[in-house]
Amino acid sequence: MVDLKGQYNEIKDTVNPAIQEVIENTAFINGPKVHDFQKKLENYLDVKHVIPCANGTDALQIAMMGLGLKPGDEVITADFTFAATVEVIALLQLTPVLVDVNPNDFNINIEAIKNAITPKTKAIVPVHLFGQCANMEAIMEIAQAHDLFVIEDNAQAIGANYTFKDGRKVKAGTIGNVGATSFFPSKNLGCYGDGGAIFTNDDELAHTIRGVVNHGMYERYHHDVVGVNSRLDSIQAAVLDAKLPLLDAYNARRIEAANKYDAAFKDIDCIEIPFRYGDVDNHVFHQYTLKVKGVDRDALVKHLNEKEIPCGVYYPIPLHKQKAYLDERYVESNFEVTNQLVKEVISLPMHTELDNEQINYITTTITNFIDG
Ligand SMILES: Cc1ncc(COP(=O)(O)O)c(C=O)c1O
Repeated sequence: MVDLKGQYNEIKDTVNPAIQEVIENTAFINGPKVHDFQKKLENYLDVKHVIPCANGTDALQIAMMGLGLKPGDEVITADFTFAATVEVIALLQLTPVLVDVNPNDFNINIEAIKNAITPKTKAIVPVHLFGQCANMEAIMEIAQAHDLFVIEDNAQAIGANYTFKDGRKVKAGTIGNVGATSFFPSKNLGCYGDGGAIFTNDDELAHTIRGVVNHGMYERYHHDVVGVNSRLDSIQAAVLDAKLPLLDAYNARRIEAANKYDAAFKDIDCIEIPFRYGDVDNHVFHQYTLKVKGVDRDALVKHLNEKEIPCGVYYPIPLHKQKAYLDERYVESNFEVTNQLVKEVISLPMHTELDNEQINYITTTITNFIDG
C-alpha cells in the first residue's frame, strides 16, 4: 500500500545526517530537533501552538484531557473511522456517541450530529477521513450554537486545506478548538516510528496541554494535573524536520496519482471514484478509496492479492458493531450509510512513489476483473 523504502532512498542524504546529529548530541528527549520541528510545523500550519507527542492516539486523548472533559460527558464522533478516535473517548470514561457518515465524502454527517446532541454532549470529534476535511463550517456552527468543543482528528489529512464559503483557506486541524495528528510511518507526514502532535490557537489550552504531555508538570516535580508521558523523541523529530519541507510535494504526488486513478475509473458504472470538494488541495489522499457497486468486493480483493497488488478495506466493520463499543442505545437504521460502506469500499495503493507503470497495472487489473 505504501513504499516507505522508495521514499527513504530519495531523502536518505538529508535524513541520515539529521538522525546522526541527534545521536552525536545525545539529546534524545525534548532536544533542539523537537523544538525546531515544532516551530516549523506551527509556521507551516499557520497555528499558534503545536505540541508534539508520542502518537496520534495520545494526541486525541491529551486534547480531551486538556479540554477538561469529564466521565459521563458525551462526545460525538463518526462510526466509520479507525478505532483510535472512539478508543480514547472510552478510555477517559467519556461516553462515545457514534453517528453515521456521508455516502460521498465518508465524513461525519451534519444532520446525524444535530440529532445526537443531548444536554450531556460536550464535544464533537470530526475525523478528516482519507485526507479530506469534514464539513467544518457546519460543525463549527453547531458547536457554537450548543457550546461544544471541536477536536479535529487530523491523522489522515495533514497538509489538506479547508476552504470556507467566503473563500478563506486554512489548514486541516487548525479550525476547531484543537487538532490532533499522527506521524505513523505511512501517514502523509510520517516518521520512522511513532509520533503525533496536537495543534491549537488557544494559549491557555496550549499551556494546559504542555503540562499534560509531561506528567502534568508545569514546574519540575510539581504535578498540578494528572498527566501522561507522551513525548515525540528527538530522532523522530529529526526525520519529520527533514520531511516537512517536502510535505506539499508529497501531497501533490498523491493527488497526481489520484487523478490518474480517477481518469481510469471515471466511466465505469460500477465504480464510484472518490468525491472531492472544489479546490485541488482540499483532499490529500491519505487513502484512495473506491466504492464498488454490484461487484463482489471481496472477490476483487482476492483477485488483486493474487496479482500481487496490495489493497485494503478501510474499514470493514462499523465502530458501533465492534464488541468494545456496543451500546444498546444504537439503532441500526441510524447507521445505514456506514453499514453499506463497509461492504463497498476498497482502498488502492497510494503513496509518493507510485509510477505510471504501477498505476496502469493496477487499473487494468481492476477493469479486466470487472469486464469479467
Ligand atoms: C483517523 C485516525 N485517528 C487516529 C489515529 C491514531 O494514530 P496513531 O497510530 O499514531 O496512534 C489514526 C492512525 O491510524 C487514524 O487513522
